[in-house]
Amino acid sequence: MNRRVATAAILLTLSLPLPAIADVGALSSERRAEIGHMVKQDCGSCHGLTLKGGLGPSLDPARLNLYPEGFLEVTIFHGRPGTPMPPWAPILTPNEIRYIATQLLSGTWYEPK
Ligand code: HEC
Repeated sequence: MNRRVATAAILLTLSLPLPAIADVGALSSERRAEIGHMVKQDCGSCHGLTLKGGLGPSLDPARLNLYPEGFLEVTIFHGRPGTPMPPWAPILTPNEIRYIATQLLSGTWYEPK
């Protein structure tokens, strides 16, 4: 594989890490509850317990909805290299990441006082 093809392949992998349509319904209600807890505790340790921002930016749905489709999934999946935002691919499935992105966009966990 020449370098150009290799680069294209890497870019494709980076931009399309997730199935276009995740089967969010396949997540049990127990697993969804665990994920909700994890988002508050783990994501919340940087983004704030109510996701209004801390070390990481506010995850205000009004702002997140301005991003192109798939942007949140890619960010959560890979993290932001060179920043404290870690990649979650090692511990969450693509389906779970899609679920988190969907909930962030609808503001389920965003409740700043
Ligand atoms: C160790 C701290 C830390 C943790 C834990 C963390 N983040 Fe982040 N996150 C950040 C930082 C810092 C940024 C901003 C990175 C940058 O400068 O581009 C960020 C950026 C983001 C963004 C992009 C926001 C934007 O407007 O560009 C999303 C979405 C996000 N994080 C979601 C999550 C989710 C979901 C979790 C938990 C699964 C999580 N983060 C856990 C620190 C963290």
